[in-house]
Amino acid sequence: MARLRPMRWWDIEPVLRLERTLFVDDAWTEGVFWSELAERATRHYLVADADEAGDDPDEEADVLGYAGLCVYGRDEAFVQTIAVAPAAQRHGLGTRLLTALIDESVARGCRQLDLEVRADNATAINLYARHGFTQIGRRRGYYQPSGADAIVMRRKSS
Ligand SMILES: CC(C)(COP(=O)(O)OP(=O)(O)OC[C@H]1O[C@@H](n2cnc3c(N)ncnc32)[C@H](O)[C@@H]1OP(=O)(O)O)[C@@H](O)C(=O)NCCC(=O)NCCS
Repeated sequence: MARLRPMRWWDIEPVLRLERTLFVDDAWTEGVFWSELAERATRHYLVADADEAGDDPDEEADVLGYAGLCVYGRDEAFVQTIAVAPAAQRHGLGTRLLTALIDESVARGCRQLDLEVRADNATAINLYARHGFTQIGRRRGYYQPSGADAIVMRRKSS
């Protein structure tokens, strides 16, 4: 079973390979990951790896998935990203990563957790809906260069 652990700078390379495979035109650059990891107080990034590798910078981990949370304002949070390698999808890893971000936002006292998702990404929208997210808005042509709309979803903590 995959292990979830904090993302470290030495995970950026394998994470970037997955990022480019999964998000193609919308892929984050290396610089975005570096600056996200630098914001230690407000960010919470996890990777899922296949084994005990990844504790050592000299040994590249086999990253199966990753996810990141941003906490902002007094009690709000945002799902920055969530992704699972194609070969590891549909085994519950996306659910585990999302649950870990939800738990972290609740532990930090956040009352709401928001995210944006491509309107054509039914798999992700279903995953979020199963975990209490509901649509609160739509941003037309938000993703560039594709021009795809973004659905804005929110989960309120009770
Ligand atoms: C969205 C994403 C993170 C989901 O990851 P995942 O690991 O496949 O998620 P899960 O396995 O928890 O759930 C996905 C589906 O697999 C099903 N599933 C989970 N465990 C399963 C199992 N053991 N056997 C069969 N199906 C299973 C779930 O019921 C769910 O079904 P649904 O799509 O019909 O709702 C993944 O598809 C992904 O990385 N996509 C590309 C990047 C992306 O779009 N990210 C979101 C950006 S907003």
